[in-house]
Amino acid sequence: MTLLIKDEYPKKLLREDGKRLDGREYLELRPIKMEVDVIKNADGSAYIEWGNNKIYAAVYGPREVHPHHLAKPDRGVLRVFYRMATFSVFERKRPAPGRREKEISMIIGECLEPVLFLELYPGTSFEVYIQVIDADGGTRCASTTVAALALADAGIPMRSLITAVAIGKIDDQLVVDLSGIEDKAGQADLPCAITWFNNEFSLLQFDGVMSVEEYHKSLELAYNALKTIYGLQEQALKRKYINIQERVLHSQKAVEEGGDNQA
Ligand code: CDP
Repeated sequence: MTLLIKDEYPKKLLREDGKRLDGREYLELRPIKMEVDVIKNADGSAYIEWGNNKIYAAVYGPREVHPHHLAKPDRGVLRVFYRMATFSVFERKRPAPGRREKEISMIIGECLEPVLFLELYPGTSFEVYIQVIDADGGTRCASTTVAALALADAGIPMRSLITAVAIGKIDDQLVVDLSGIEDKAGQADLPCAITWFNNEFSLLQFDGVMSVEEYHKSLELAYNALKTIYGLQEQALKRKYINIQERVLHSQKAVEEGGDNQA
């Protein structure tokens, strides 16, 4: 848990049985659940539960730019607002956006831009609001993943989805998808995101120490984990349309049966 102060972090992050403190294997992701179309007032939206992280993303656009001076005559602008709720972490977070939230908003924006056709929407803006309700490590990765899903849900033309995950090093062992305590007490943290249309990493941050070999291995581990998470994103999008199809078929059937009864 993230309730500890630095001096109280556990000395060991791997248990005697070789598993991680939350019982996971080295390469195991935390449980991930995603859903789209969760905020009716937004043009597109999505929700993700990734371990203990709970995050909403809402997308609006293309629409008029406010303030007007931010508009660009030759292309649309993408604005990302990552915010952590005051109650989302153990120590109360100040409600006003801090430096960390501004930095994360910026890197998520830079990550999402390559997949959008902003040049087709001059003078307009796309806004992505990300609200972290509960945080436990890896919120920038979960936020990037859920924001891409919300953009797709809005029907905004995209070159592809984007998926993100953090690889890390704890007790000299490379592990996939760091939890909050592994992020804080571990030796290294490497959040990364991939744009699937060109298979390129559009986010690569690094904090800590690892060898060049471990770095290369981390990217390989990330790629495999990202493919799994991408599958979950696709399923979440498909589920929306399967539900719509079922509703249409159901109401067609009801109309037909009503007709039969009248005859
Ligand atoms: O969430 P992410 O790993 O992308 O970013 P971080 O800055 O490395 O933060 C790691 C974790 O620290 C977050 O996910 C939160 O659980 C926790 N945190 C916190 O407890 N209080 C804050 N003001 C910021 C982060």
